[in-house]
Amino acid sequence: MTTADSGVAAGLVMLGDGRVVQIRPIVAGDADGLVDLHRALFAAVRYLRFQSPKPQLRPAEAAYLAAADGTDRVALVATTVEDGDARIVADARVEPTATGDGEVALLVRDDLQGLGLGRRLLTLLIHAGACRGQRRLLLYVLAENEAMLTLASQFDADPIGSNGDVALLAIVVKQVVPGPVSRRHRQLTSSSLG
Ligand SMILES: CC(C)(COP(=O)(O)OP(=O)(O)OC[C@H]1O[C@@H](n2cnc3c(N)ncnc32)[C@H](O)[C@@H]1OP(=O)(O)O)[C@@H](O)C(=O)NCCC(=O)NCCS
Repeated sequence: MTTADSGVAAGLVMLGDGRVVQIRPIVAGDADGLVDLHRALFAAVRYLRFQSPKPQLRPAEAAYLAAADGTDRVALVATTVEDGDARIVADARVEPTATGDGEVALLVRDDLQGLGLGRRLLTLLIHAGACRGQRRLLLYVLAENEAMLTLASQFDADPIGSNGDVALLAIVVKQVVPGPVSRRHRQLTSSSLG
């Protein structure tokens, strides 16, 4: 499955512990799954994602997040089958900013963190940003968020601002020629992370 212009195809990915997830563009029907994902998180993880207390994701918020159209607003989810049902275990998105950049947000369920999923999702978002001609991807990251700061540094993110609590990082996007799903992303299928 692909969305119109997201530049990202659905595919299976093996995580560092051998578990397999599917990464695919989000669809409107994922709103309930996003609510379930947020309910399953530790409060501390929700805080890192939203940079404020976020006890629950309200249905209207989930509907907005799930409505990313893959053209202006790109969002990917990772799912895995648990107890016979497909569950959303990660949400990754890039939203356009007024400056022509993209603003990134990433969320991986607690028990699947540290297995390479965040890196894979960020790689795909950078590709999606490049397809949109976005020159930079911006990330607002809490100063205490070692995982995200480390991950961002692996993509040569530069700090461009800070208020002491939150750092604003920028990843410079190498431009690509827009087009259909690239060969690289077709290869997403059955690739593995380690
Ligand atoms: C930040 C987050 C998205 C990273 O996703 P992830 O799947 O855990 O990351 P990965 O497994 O791909 O790890 C990538 C790198 O980050 C680093 N990292 C991961 N977890 C870390 C941790 N707890 N502490 C320090 N570094 C960490 C590792 O160096 C890793 O690189 P390595 O494998 O070469 O050692 C995830 O931890 C998360 O959802 N956190 C809560 C929400 C959040 O902070 N969102 C960011 C707001 S924009």
